[in-house]
Amino acid sequence: MAMRGVLRMAEVAIRVMDMKAARLHYGERMGLHEVMQDDKGQVYYKAWDEHDHHCLVLREADAPGLDYVAMKVYDDRTLTELESKVRDFGLDVRRIEAGFYPKSGRRIEFTLASGHTMQLYAEKEQIGNTLGQLNPGTTPDEGVIRGFNINRLDHALLGGTNIDQNVELFTKVFDFDLSERIIDHESGISLAVFLTCSTKPHDIAFVLQPEPNRFHHVSFLLESAHDVIKAADKIGKYRIPVDVGPNRHGVTRGATIYFFDPSGNRNEVFAEGYVHYPDTPTIIWDTTDLGGATFAQDNIVRESFLTVLT
Ligand SMILES: [Fe+2]
Repeated sequence: MAMRGVLRMAEVAIRVMDMKAARLHYGERMGLHEVMQDDKGQVYYKAWDEHDHHCLVLREADAPGLDYVAMKVYDDRTLTELESKVRDFGLDVRRIEAGFYPKSGRRIEFTLASGHTMQLYAEKEQIGNTLGQLNPGTTPDEGVIRGFNINRLDHALLGGTNIDQNVELFTKVFDFDLSERIIDHESGISLAVFLTCSTKPHDIAFVLQPEPNRFHHVSFLLESAHDVIKAADKIGKYRIPVDVGPNRHGVTRGATIYFFDPSGNRNEVFAEGYVHYPDTPTIIWDTTDLGGATFAQDNIVRESFLTVLT
């Protein structure tokens, strides 16, 4: 397989204000698997079809929002190479020794131009998806029929300043492609940028905001648009607050529903979308079709979707 370098969005660390309510939401309702609670009370989750130990970390705090995002890179040599490239790009790099984050090898950390904390690491303990690797079959005894039937962490959308500088970093240093871009039709400035290191339509995205370091949403992958509707049934049943009901994005062409955790952090479950290849041209949307870019089944721009961030 040709894909090396940065592999994927691998870990998202979120602040929640009430861990008991958060556990009910992310564990029992959404169906993520709680794999650990550390000595600081932080709770760790994985989705069933991920091999790494965890993809989501919850920390109890006074306010919601994002602590950091972390991407996994191919190997330790790649991490070393990227560290010098990030320094050459002009960002300060902080080194985090192996074991500081549980089950994790060494990491590097830096602050994006948009104000967000981002980390890279090459190693994390793998605990598998319960199927094993020899004649694994297709369906675990427990796990897939649980909550929203989440397969894996998919992407995050972050709000902040200087998002074009992030595009420079991700495309020139991390070898991502700019898959899509939403621009103001008069000024041409970037309002949102979508970046991929894989065949997914996006692994990370940024939306322009007046304030740095804001969190728009974290998204988890389901198998099908049908599963998005089934998740919506449970979201309604459990009275989980909905931001935008089932719809399909123009950007990415993914089937989607947006809802909030008990602390007000926005979550998405997402399915389908197109396959991106390195030679796929960048798609441009402008503000004359903002409805179609965001929610293409009714073409309505949601004010809350554009303005509510944690
Ligand atoms: Fe999303």
